[in-house]
This record gives sequence, structure tokens and C-alpha cells, in this order.
Amino acid sequence: MILVTGGAGFIGSNFVLDWLAAGNEPIVNLDVLTYAGNLQNLEAIAGDGRHIFVRGDICDGDLIATLLREHPIRAIVHFAAESHVDRSIHGPEDFIQTNIVGTFRLLEAARGHWAALSSDAKSAFRFLHVSTDEVYGSLSPSDPPFAETNQYQPNSPYSASKAAADHLVRSYHHTYGLPVLTTNCSNNYGPFHFPEKLIPLCIHNALAGKPLPIYGDGMQIRDWLYVKDHTAAVRRVLEAGTPGETYNIGGWNEKPNIDVVKTLCRILDEEHPKADGTSYADQITFVKDRPGHDRRYAIDARKIEAALGWKPVETFETGIRKTVRWYLDHQEWVANVASGGYRDWINTHYGATST
Ligand code: NAD
Ligand code: DAU
Repeated sequence: MILVTGGAGFIGSNFVLDWLAAGNEPIVNLDVLTYAGNLQNLEAIAGDGRHIFVRGDICDGDLIATLLREHPIRAIVHFAAESHVDRSIHGPEDFIQTNIVGTFRLLEAARGHWAALSSDAKSAFRFLHVSTDEVYGSLSPSDPPFAETNQYQPNSPYSASKAAADHLVRSYHHTYGLPVLTTNCSNNYGPFHFPEKLIPLCIHNALAGKPLPIYGDGMQIRDWLYVKDHTAAVRRVLEAGTPGETYNIGGWNEKPNIDVVKTLCRILDEEHPKADGTSYADQITFVKDRPGHDRRYAIDARKIEAALGWKPVETFETGIRKTVRWYLDHQEWVANVASGGYRDWINTHYGATST
């Protein structure tokens, strides 16, 4: 079985659902359930014996050691993190604790566990660390996209904390031989995306008749990747990636923020027209820029395609339409997140199995 951290968050929960749909290998899902953890994301597998949910902190080394002792875990897939750049600007402390100290504790527990394995189990073991393209800093319009060899130049407390974690992961391979894999991914979007991030925030605000806030001039570029393409890439890296290697994962979908928001307004106009016949785009509002806002991210995803045969299935047009449709069809999920009601799921549905 595998140990997944952060499996109640946006990407982690998509990974857990897709993993169990693709095969039968069980998962221990360790998540402390911060504001970003939502067990309602895992409603479809409630009661599924292949999923063991443990409420706990990746900073708790004893807990991780216990889980590794009590379950036959052959790989760790590490998603847990504080993930929102704006939050890292207002309060960096949690980012240092979870993203750096938490990753360190996880590595230490993994190292202790791995060292005691038989030689066959040792070479089969994997520690897959999920990281971000933001560690590479910001590109100018004419720069080539980020390759795995790019220098690290993180610009926010969030990206600096992820960069520190990446370096720790790398060092555990070079110093101790731990079979690690690192993935650096671009902006994900899709089901279960917490509505503090640009795309779900704008869908939510559009439907609620609120402003769609665009930072600065809206010309910052991100490389959008549908989350199901990301989970497939992570499965592929886990299956066939070479220990010690890093793999950049991206969607080949560079878009300025303003175009992203105009596109989702256009799709909302088609799928859920406003009663008064006006466009959701009328709600677009330019607001003060994010401090230190990176101008452009773009991923060169040729290495993972050449080495492992992965490439994204969705274009931005197909992925964003699916995403808008998902939010329209899951208004209860959105309402529960907006009201804070999702926090009750912890006690109602998983109280007995949480530690
Ligand atoms: P998220 O914020 O939606 O979810 C994070 C999850 O981690 C939550 O369930 C939360 O409860 C859990 N968590 C936080 N602190 C924890 C702790 N101390 N112990 C245990 N669990 C804890 O994040 P996401 O967007 O799903 O991102 C997942 C990973 O992917 C992160 O490592 C992030 O840096 C990386 N990433 C995200 C994106 C993106 O576009 N969202 C892109 C590239 C990389
Ligand atoms: O690039 C990968 C990263 O993508 C991940 O590592 C992060 O965990 C993830 O949160 C995401 O970071 P971003 O800062 O790029 O995502 P966010 O959705 O917050 O913002 C996307 C862009 O939209 C960014 O240029 C800021 C802008 N923005 C964001 C918000 C929330 C706005 O213009 N208005 C907004 O209200």
C-alpha cells in the first residue's frame, strides 16, 4: 500500500480518488485537515476499505513512524502543504512549519523505515515529493519555459518554503540514498479546488453576483494543467520515474489571468446564462496587485513525455469547460465550503477513524 499526505486537499483528494479508480492498492491518507482539507471531497469512497484516513500532522514524526510500522507501505506520495501564495504573504509561519519542518519529519521517518527494509524492498521503496514550478521564479516574455535544470529563484514565502523542501528531499537521496522522486508542477485546476484560488474563486463569485478580482493588470501568465492530468502524471512518475530525478509537469497552456477569467465567463454565459441577459464578464474588477507577484510561469514538460510517455490529455478549453460544469453541478459542495459547513464532515463522517 501507499501513504499519501494531504489527501483531503484539492490535488491530494483527486489523486486518492483516481488512484483507487485505476487499481486496487490501498492508501493510508494522512491529513491534519487545515482549512484546505475537506473530507467531503472523499465522499465517493466513504466506507471503502481500501482507504484508511488518519487525521494527523506531518510534523509529528512519531505518528508517521507508527504508520510506517503498522502498514506495509511501499511508497509515500507527499502532497501536504500550505499552498496559497497570498496566505504566505500575510502569515508565512505555517508555511515554514508544514512545508519545511513537515517535509523534514516525513523524510526522517521515511529514512528510518527504509533503512530497516530488506534489500529488495529498499530498492522498490519510493518517496515522491510533489512540488511547484514557482521554485524557479518568474520568466520574462521571451524566456524559454522552466526546465528541470533551471536555477531555483523562489520569490514568495510559499515558493521559498517549497524550494527548501525540494532541497531537503534532494539531499536525502544524495546523502542517504533514499529513493526520492520530485515533481514540479504548474497551476492545477478542476474539481474540489478551494475557492480562494483564481479559477474557483471567480466561478463562485460570478454565480454569487460578486466582483471577479483581477490583481494588477491581469497580464500575469500561468501554465494551466487539469488536475486529472496531474494525478495521472504523478502515478506515472511513481511507477517508472528514476530515483533522484525531478520531473516538470505542465499543461502547455500558457494564459494571461484576464484571458482565463474571460474564458470562464464566456462558458458560464453559455452554460448558465444570467436572467437579465448580461455577461458575467461585467463583474470583472481590477484590484491592487499581489506583492512580489511573479509575472510568468511556464513548464517545459518534454522530459516527462520523453522519459515516461506522459503528456496532458486536456486542452485548456476542454478542461475549463469540465471545471465550470463541475462547479455548476456541485453547488452544494461550494455552498458547504463557503459557509464553513464542510468542517462538520470531519466529525460526522470520519470521527471514528480519525486519530
Ligand atoms: P491544498 O491547500 O488544497 O491541500 C493541502 C492539504 O494538505 C490539505 O488537505 C491540508 O489539510 C493538508 N495539510 C496541510 N498542512 C498539513 C500538515 N501539517 N499535516 C498534514 N496535512 C496537512 O493544496 P493543493 O493545491 O492540493 O496542493 C497539493 C500539493 O501540490 C502542495 O504540495 C502544493 O505545493 C503542490 N502544488 C500545487 C499546485 C496547485 O496548482 N494547486 C501546483 C503545483 C504544486
Ligand atoms: O504555479 C503553481 C502554483 O499555482 C502552486 O504552487 C500554488 O500552490 C497554487 O496556489 C498556484 O499559485 P498561484 O499564486 O499561481 O495561484 P492563484 O490561483 O492564487 O493565482 C493565479 C493567478 O491569478 C496569479 O497570477 C494571481 C492571480 N489572482 C489570484 C487571485 C486569488 C488574481 O488575479 N485574483 C485573485 O483573486
